[in-house]
Amino acid sequence: MTTTDTSIIGQPLDRTDGPLKTTGGARYAAEFRLPDLCHAVMVLSTIPRGRIVDLDTTRAEASPGVLLVLSHRNAPSLPEHGRAAFKPPAGRAMSLFQDDDVHYNRQPIAVVVADTFEHAVAGAALVDARYATEPPMLDFERERAHAYAPKEILGKPPDAGWGDMGAGERAAEVRVDAVYATPMQSHNPLEPHATIAAWDGDHLTLYDATQYVSGVRDTVAKTLGIATDDVRVVSPFVGGGFGCKGSVWSHVVLCAMCARKVGRPVKLVVDRTQMFGPVGGRPLTRQRVALGARQDGTLAYVRHELVANTSDFEDWTESSAVVSRMMYKCPNGITTHRLVKLSTGTPTFQRAPGEATGNFALEVAMDELAHALALDPLILRLRNYAEHEADTGKPFSSKHLRECYEQAAQRFGWSQRSAVPRSMRDGRELIGFGMATASYPAHRMRAKARAALSPDGTFVVQSGSQDIGTGTYTVMTQVAADALGVPPSRVRFELGDTHLPPAPVSGGSMTAASVAPAVQAACRQLRQMLIAQATRDGSSPLHGVAPSRVGVDGGWIAVRDDPSRGETIAALAGRVSQPLEATAEAAPDKEAERYALHSFGAVFVEVRVDDDLGVIRVPRVVAAYDIGRPLNEKTARSQLQGGIVWGMSFALLEDAVMDARNGRIVNANLAEYHVPVNADVGTVDVTFVDFPDYAFNPLGIRGIGEIGITGVPAAICNAVYHATGRRLRDLPITLDKLL
Ligand code: MOS
Repeated sequence: MTTTDTSIIGQPLDRTDGPLKTTGGARYAAEFRLPDLCHAVMVLSTIPRGRIVDLDTTRAEASPGVLLVLSHRNAPSLPEHGRAAFKPPAGRAMSLFQDDDVHYNRQPIAVVVADTFEHAVAGAALVDARYATEPPMLDFERERAHAYAPKEILGKPPDAGWGDMGAGERAAEVRVDAVYATPMQSHNPLEPHATIAAWDGDHLTLYDATQYVSGVRDTVAKTLGIATDDVRVVSPFVGGGFGCKGSVWSHVVLCAMCARKVGRPVKLVVDRTQMFGPVGGRPLTRQRVALGARQDGTLAYVRHELVANTSDFEDWTESSAVVSRMMYKCPNGITTHRLVKLSTGTPTFQRAPGEATGNFALEVAMDELAHALALDPLILRLRNYAEHEADTGKPFSSKHLRECYEQAAQRFGWSQRSAVPRSMRDGRELIGFGMATASYPAHRMRAKARAALSPDGTFVVQSGSQDIGTGTYTVMTQVAADALGVPPSRVRFELGDTHLPPAPVSGGSMTAASVAPAVQAACRQLRQMLIAQATRDGSSPLHGVAPSRVGVDGGWIAVRDDPSRGETIAALAGRVSQPLEATAEAAPDKEAERYALHSFGAVFVEVRVDDDLGVIRVPRVVAAYDIGRPLNEKTARSQLQGGIVWGMSFALLEDAVMDARNGRIVNANLAEYHVPVNADVGTVDVTFVDFPDYAFNPLGIRGIGEIGITGVPAAICNAVYHATGRRLRDLPITLDKLL
């Protein structure tokens, strides 16, 4: 048998976990059934800032079925006041009842545990808190006077400049300078956060909805002051993460504290309303972007200044201005980040944190510049095409954005666009075409995987990673099958458990790029072990053959140039007495540090705006992406389509509205916090330009989880301008702003 290219990698394999998900067999954190399980409900603060001066729990404690009311009055003292594990991104500043301070509205102040969920809800309603209030910080514009620079943004400097801004300003012939606003947003995965905590002596098991099982283990162990080995975290299915499940929030540790105190397993589900406060969200941003260009459209300078809110007890920065450090060829630039403390919960990663917001501001500014120069927005981007990252000077590892622009523009019919705003119409509807560049950095971290042969000739391959709906189970099955030389149906991939070899957070779009190389290495090792086993085995037709002459393909292990001389893996496995397994680790390549590592895309949208009513529809999005090599054409396309839908949501719908008097998000439910439904989404046409990035990773893959949301808000905003002649810089673009 010759080695033909029958690679399963890239094929549009159906999700291996699809049948479990569609039949209810997939078990999510809140669905584990444990004997003696009791139920916890959080009680949240009703003021934004102050102290709890009296917490009356007597009625709650006397309520039927109530086993415990945990609060600052009876909570055990934790090491370092509960901040022993404070090390973002996983370890966040939590509310663990170590004091009576209130820092934001909907901060956890008590947990009621009861024998049934209903009893816990009833008990929670009877907890009575009295507060000494202090003046909250809720007016962003007023608090801006105290804006400050954060120490760092996850290892990156908050401020970065290059070139000579003075020279750039002198060289510029055309300028734009505007402020762009994005609102607070809430993640709202379909599955809210949920934790079940069960103690067995000193050993704690957590069933948790998380993007990072080992991060939860380490953070909870350290916070409670127990050994890491005494904590196990299990999370086989996650109903959406979007960043909020990348850190450990208060409820996880509180659930473990309650379980220890009542001596029974405890389940705590964060309800929909509670998703708006204690578990992060996207901060509001105000971004000034100023661009200067020569008459021919070449950029002379870029200035990108972000101001965003954080809480008053932890710095978290939306890294919006970072995109302007790499997007275009521009000799001079300055990018800055400033924080404003508000009496809110601490914000966090949300769907392309930094990029989604920063890209919106930069890409609308580019559109404004194109109109000021009377240049086609696509031509302006091509004229400033970057081959290097501006602030570091590093070349891109693999950049094929030009191909994205070409393919997407062609599929969209960009050449049909009239240059003048408000010049395309279909009856009452104004038609607008808009475009923007998409981008997201390629991240990768160290990961481990294990592969083992089962006696029936199938394989179990494992890594302590997560599948947050992205398709990790499926794509890792493909990578394993390819490396082993067996059909994917012979491989079972397992993840979501700290008992498995460790893998990084499923955030920053890094799971596939980090875990796949480890899976591939473990499976290749195991394949070599199988070959060695067969050639040593007197009962095998391969006995005595040099291992280098033997291959495995389609589950058949045989001499490469005489495939009839071989046997099935199943036959071989039946004779193997010792368990065969291999473990491998894969880490980012030092060589890759020479490069700027980014994915790119080009997004084109058509909007239709009702001229009388201001109703905006997006019938068509066409996008092409340079995301390295897709591991599965189908799940990759789904990821990007999903991202694009979130981009539409960002542009037109999402807005967590805070009551300026009390700091409470008033639309804390899915009826009033709007996200798109099927009827809001038209055609979403996604293609890949398909250039493997081997400088980044041995499989040539970069992440695709988050890039889909980027570019879309700006493209829609630009299309609305093109349709109406109205430049709106304040998201979401709702019809009232057009009237
Ligand atoms: Mo993503 S917001 O980095 O989980």
